[in-house]
Amino acid sequence: MLTFLIIATLAVIAAIAAIYVHDINQTQHTILRNYPVLGHFRYFAETWGEYMRQYQYLPDWEERPFNRLERSWIYRSSKNVSNYISFGSEATPSFAFRNAAFPVLEEDRKPFAGLQIGVIEGPGACARPYIAQSFFNISGMSYGALSHAAVSALSRGAKMAGVWMGTGEGGLSPFHLEGGADIVFQIGTAKYGVCDENGGLSEERLRTIAAHENVRMIEVKLAQGAKPGKGGVLPAIKVTKEIAGIRNIPEGQASISPNRHRDIGSIRELGEFIARVRRITGKPVGVKFVVGDAQHLDEWFTDCLQHPEGCPDYVHVDGGEGGTGAAPEALAECMGLPITMALPMVVAAREQHALTKRIRIVAAGKLVTPDKVAWALCTGADFVVSARGFTFSLGCIQAMKCGSGNCPTGVTASDPKLIKGLDPTDKSVRVMHYAKRMREDVEMIAHSCGVAGPEEFALRHVTAVERGVAGFRNSGAE
Ligand SMILES: Cc1cc2nc3c(=O)[nH]c(=O)nc-3n(C[C@H](O)[C@H](O)[C@H](O)COP(=O)(O)O)c2cc1C
Repeated sequence: MLTFLIIATLAVIAAIAAIYVHDINQTQHTILRNYPVLGHFRYFAETWGEYMRQYQYLPDWEERPFNRLERSWIYRSSKNVSNYISFGSEATPSFAFRNAAFPVLEEDRKPFAGLQIGVIEGPGACARPYIAQSFFNISGMSYGALSHAAVSALSRGAKMAGVWMGTGEGGLSPFHLEGGADIVFQIGTAKYGVCDENGGLSEERLRTIAAHENVRMIEVKLAQGAKPGKGGVLPAIKVTKEIAGIRNIPEGQASISPNRHRDIGSIRELGEFIARVRRITGKPVGVKFVVGDAQHLDEWFTDCLQHPEGCPDYVHVDGGEGGTGAAPEALAECMGLPITMALPMVVAAREQHALTKRIRIVAAGKLVTPDKVAWALCTGADFVVSARGFTFSLGCIQAMKCGSGNCPTGVTASDPKLIKGLDPTDKSVRVMHYAKRMREDVEMIAHSCGVAGPEEFALRHVTAVERGVAGFRNSGAE
């Protein structure tokens, strides 16, 4: 009996050791690399959870900020496995697309042809307009908030999928350039990477950055949805020597940017800044902001007509529900209008001022699945960008530890042991699949609506629905 017990124990130890060796050597699953053996419990729970649905504490559609249905669509798309479902959908969206009686045949479909941002003639023209090849792209996330491995994977995946990638406000790092993707360089309120000695804009530094062929557009950030009225916050633990060098700030001290650009305190100053950045770089200039009230939009777009040289080439409307690496709770949820209110207001203001051909609209705010992206395009956005959708494609499990430096999947980690688990080569392929599947499924929605591609989406293709009201009871089906 004793011999049997010894043999059984040794067999178990050998099996665990074998699993351990396997886990740390594979590159597909960050959680297993970072938490060998133990990490299998997550995959076990994920797989068997489906069969335990009726016993779960939380239904699939109830987790926040992103529910399991949304995350699972992204995970499956990123792994390029089928995301067909059986037996019906658990989602209860508040809108529905109006399907056409005669959907578009395969031979009549039109792939996205690319859309130009920036004009080549007239006041506000730029030397190098940008023709964006994808209607779905990667929203800015700073190097520092993201690990170097995550930035590398995004940059390589973006190149493979033909999407642009925003730098976020933390400057341009070699990891952004590594994959050769199109880059949108962001100037945040601290002007990291392009700041002069007095805290103003260094024309020389900006010119050097814009001279990179891959840097296609410049984005002036007024605000982001997770924290309108508050600048970026990079906790001290994340301010490593390298990051301090890129941002030109002291190492090991929290990096907190002002809540607005010191040199932009009015619509006119914003216009002058846009014109200046475009003059220096020769590239299209956009503005990222969060909608507070309609009057501001009216005044801004009126100014664009009076001073066309200060008109932005695009506006990035961030919904109040946007994410970040670190934000004060008081601002995170309730400050700024959600994208469902903000986007229609911006579209209406642009139309009212006859600026539809001049200013492109980029929308963001939990637009991470094809239905939401298609909704935004129907509502009038020209492009949709996502940050957290792409972090899920990198393996994020919504542990919500971005600011701690201890992200278990290495995406926002600063601990090298955790970053090591994220293999940029493997994950770049997932980034590519996510972007591609998104485009395919949005196109599929367009074809069902009877249009040849997403460029033909219009407001008439989507309608609000009140679930539970228009149900069987009212239809007389009882
Ligand atoms: C980790 C992380 C870092 C971010 N860093 C920036 C940033 O530096 N600048 C910025 O404008 N937005 C930043 N954002 C906000 C996103 O670009 C985006 O506007 C917002 O998350 C909404 O998109 P989403 O709902 O698809 O995540 C960050 C978001 C995340 C999750």
